[in-house]
This record gives sequence, C-alpha cells and structure tokens, in this order.
Amino acid sequence: MIDVTTLSAAGLPAELAAVGVPVHSSGDGPVVAIDRGGVDGVDLPAVLDARWCERQGFTGKAAQILVLRSPNAATGAAPAPDVVLVGLGPVAALAGDKGRETVRRAAAGFVRSAGSGGTALLALPDVAGVPAADVAAAAAEGGSLASYRFDGYRSADPSPGLSALVLRGGDPVAVAEGAARGAQVARSVALARDLVNEPAGSLTPERFADVVSERFASNPAISVEVWDEARITDERLGGLLGVAAGSERPPRLVRVEYRPDDPFEFDGRVPHLALVGKGITFDSGGLSIKPAAGMETMKTDMGGAAAVLAALEAVAAMGGRTPITAWAPMTENLPSGTAIKPGDVLTTRSGKTIEVLNTDAEGRLILADGLALAVEAGPDAVIDLATLTGAAVVALGKEIAGLLGNDEELVATVQAAGARAGEPLWPLPLHEDYSAHIESEVADMKNTGRPGQAGTISAALLLQEFVSDVPWAHLDIAGPSRTDDNRGYNSKGGTGFGVRTLVALATSEEFARWLATRPRD
Ligand code: BES
Ligand code: MN
Ligand code: ZN
Repeated sequence: MIDVTTLSAAGLPAELAAVGVPVHSSGDGPVVAIDRGGVDGVDLPAVLDARWCERQGFTGKAAQILVLRSPNAATGAAPAPDVVLVGLGPVAALAGDKGRETVRRAAAGFVRSAGSGGTALLALPDVAGVPAADVAAAAAEGGSLASYRFDGYRSADPSPGLSALVLRGGDPVAVAEGAARGAQVARSVALARDLVNEPAGSLTPERFADVVSERFASNPAISVEVWDEARITDERLGGLLGVAAGSERPPRLVRVEYRPDDPFEFDGRVPHLALVGKGITFDSGGLSIKPAAGMETMKTDMGGAAAVLAALEAVAAMGGRTPITAWAPMTENLPSGTAIKPGDVLTTRSGKTIEVLNTDAEGRLILADGLALAVEAGPDAVIDLATLTGAAVVALGKEIAGLLGNDEELVATVQAAGARAGEPLWPLPLHEDYSAHIESEVADMKNTGRPGQAGTISAALLLQEFVSDVPWAHLDIAGPSRTDDNRGYNSKGGTGFGVRTLVALATSEEFARWLATRPRD
C-alpha cells in the first residue's frame, strides 16, 4: 500500500505526480472547496470555469473525478503535476459521519486516478462537525485502502500505483496525527483483507494461528496463546471439535490478550472488553454440502476472526487504553467419513447441547464455545463478528451488517461506532419468541431455524444461549466481509469489514467508561 505522509513531516516533495483539489458542487457549478488559492507553491485556479467543467461532465458531485493532465507531459518540459479535481458534493452535505465517508471515498478516487508511480498531494477540505485530525484520518484510510492489492499469486507484475500520498490541511499538527492514525487503521484492515483473500489451501487453521502468533510476537502489550487439538479436547470445546471432525487438518483456538501499560480506570475499575471471531478457514457445508456456486467464496468464512485480530493490532498501535481479550476458534468445515452427521448432538464448553440438523450451520457451533470461553473470563461486554448467515445478505444486502444483542445501550453504541467508521450496521430484533425456531426434539437446542424465516435472528438467539448476562453484541458480516466490486476504497475480495468499527469502539474513552461503570448485579 502507499505511504501516507503530511507536509509537516515530509515537506513538499520535489516532484509531484498529481495534486488533488477538493471541489464542491453548487447551483452555480463546481467551486473549489479550499480557500487557499494555491496548494503550497503549486498554482491552482482559485475559481474554476464552471461552464468548461460542465462540458467535461464534472459538476463536483461526490465521488466525481476530473484529471487535468499536465501539458508538460506532452512537450517533455520540466514535469508539472497533473491536477485532479475531486468532487465532494454540496458544501452543506459535507458534515458529520457522512462527511467522513465522503472524504474516504474522495481520497480513494484520487488515489485510483492520480497516475502510476510517484507522489501525489491531496488538499483536505473542512468537514462540519469533524475535527481536522479526523478528516485527515478518513483521507488516509480511504487513500491507502484504495491502493490495496492482493497480487502475490499473479505471475505478471501488476501495474504500479502511486507510491506516496501527502495530505495537506490547515493545521499541520492535527493533520499529521490524524494521518498516522488513519494509515495504521488501513494497515490493519489490509491485514484482515490479506487473511480473508488467502486461499484456504494455504491458510489452514494451523497456519492462521501461526500468522497471528508471528504478527504479534514483537508486541510487548500483546500475548498470544494457541490451543492445539489436545488442548481443545481437554477444554471440552465440543462445538469446535464437532465441526473439525470431518477435516484432516486440526483445529486451533487462538486467544489474544491486549494489556495496555496505562489502562483506563474509572472509580477504581479497569474496563475489559472481549471479542470473538468466527474462524472457519473453509466452509464446504460439511455433509450438508453446499452447491458449487455457494462454495466459491467460502475461503472468506474466517472474516470475523480476521477482523477481530486485525483490530487488536491497530488498537495496540494506537495506544488504546482498554484491555481486550480476543478469542478465535479456527477450523475447516469438510465432509468425510469422520464428519459429524445431521442428527448428531454436540456437548459444548458450557455443558449445553446442540442437535446438528444441518452441518452447514457450523459457525454458531464454534461460536458457542468461543463465547462461553469469553464470558468465563468475566468481561464487561463481549462482541462477536461472524460471516454467519446467508439470511443476513437477503435482509440487508452486501453492504450492511446485521447487528443484534442483549443490551440496547451496547447495540446503539456499536452502531454509532460503525457509522463513525464508515461501516453501516443495522439492528435486527432478538425476538425471544423465535426461540421456538431452535427448539430440538432431543437436545437443548438445534442448530437450524425455520427455512425462509428470520435465519439471522434464530442464529443470534442460539448464540445468546452462551453469553449469560454479559452485555453482548453480534455482528453478522456475511454480506459486507467481501465485495464483488472495485468501488470506493474496496476492491474485489475481502474488505476487512469490522476492523474500523472495533477500532473506533475500543479506542473510545466514553465506551471504556461505560464498560467500567455500568451498574452490575
Ligand atoms: N458461512 C455461511 C454463511 C454465509 C453465506 C457467509 C454467504 C457468507 C456468504 C454459514 O456457515 C452458512 O452456511 N449458513 C447457512 C445456515 C443454514 C444452513 C441454517 C445459511 O445461511 O444458509
Ligand atoms: Mn456454513
Ligand atoms: Zn460458515
């Protein structure tokens, strides 16, 4: 990915490939969004010729880009940068969380169109209600994520993108701080994308656990514990063992602890957040096997685990002051002579039993154990992320995650963090009466709901059985964890969805205070 720097850190580079000028749309045509007539020595028209822009089809609406190629490129004279007009839409709409997302996408559009190789400078607009540092963070996130590629498996060299993005805003100190923060978040989102995009033949549960251990090995605030099959058996993780039974590859359970040097303390209490991520490295469906088309993308079924672990990395790098423990059960879901069969009953960590009527509803089986372990440690809240149900894609499409939980305040706080981070989450009701959908003839519950009815809710109701009374939120990221489009700052494949929401939450002092001071019984 490209480097993100700021003027204060780097000074104006001698040679710029492109300069990005933010532009608003208005009733009188496009208007330059910054009141600095030029950008640090690079002369720019303070006003645009609206009629001319219009003839080029550029109105300044959000996500529009117009590249003005440097005339010197043709004459061979001293290179002058291309000028890239970057549309932001009407000035009144550039505000709040929506404004942050507009900036992410504008920076992404700029990076995608600002040529190949070299350094490009992007001038930052003001966003009403958003601190300058956060505008820089949004631009750094969008710009660097747009430059993400997963091309380790291509034999030909991919065409080079920009090598560096320099951000330029009003207050250099704030811009530098925000840009560094956004670049770190982008690096961790890229880690999650790399893990999701890695083929399942290479990213086995063992390898996944190794990668996590290696990535965190030199981090003094983070410790990783990996449970092998023997330990998983000793710990009675019957859900995880059941799903793993069909596979030649052994399962893993990864526990990662983040313990900051200087944790928050409110009224003598240190908050503690638990995270759980679904880590199915390949979901064939098991004996209830998926059709070929449905299996094509199932290397991505560990997107929840990837997001949780990558978020920890970013939080640690940013000096987050809330202690966090993350749990990631990891296994393949494959059919074989040793696989679990429809009708089998599994005894989970908590002692509760689950009748497995469909081996393709495997995520809830491993999360039952992961959630039970998480709550045993007595956290103030637990949040799980899982590519859990196709029903969530039906209900909310590919861009919005389902959000369910047992605590209204927690659900609202998570949703607000998602909005700030540009990851839309929408609540679905955890309708208690639908518990009837998961009643089993023989066991405490069954792992399927009713066909065609509220599949995301019945899955979440099963998970709820394993969180006791701990405030809990569940993100069903089956839709947004991968995309089929190259749009905005996402590219085909893994998106790293969830990382940014978790970072926004886990670095929030207000959330930490809520965790530590919530009345408990
Ligand atoms: N991993 C899938 C859910 C999924 C579907 C994720 C599409 C991403 C895209 C999950 O394990 C699954 O197979 N769920 C089943 C449950 C059903 C059998 C009760 C589903 O949603 O069809
Ligand atoms: Mn499945
Ligand atoms: Zn699955």
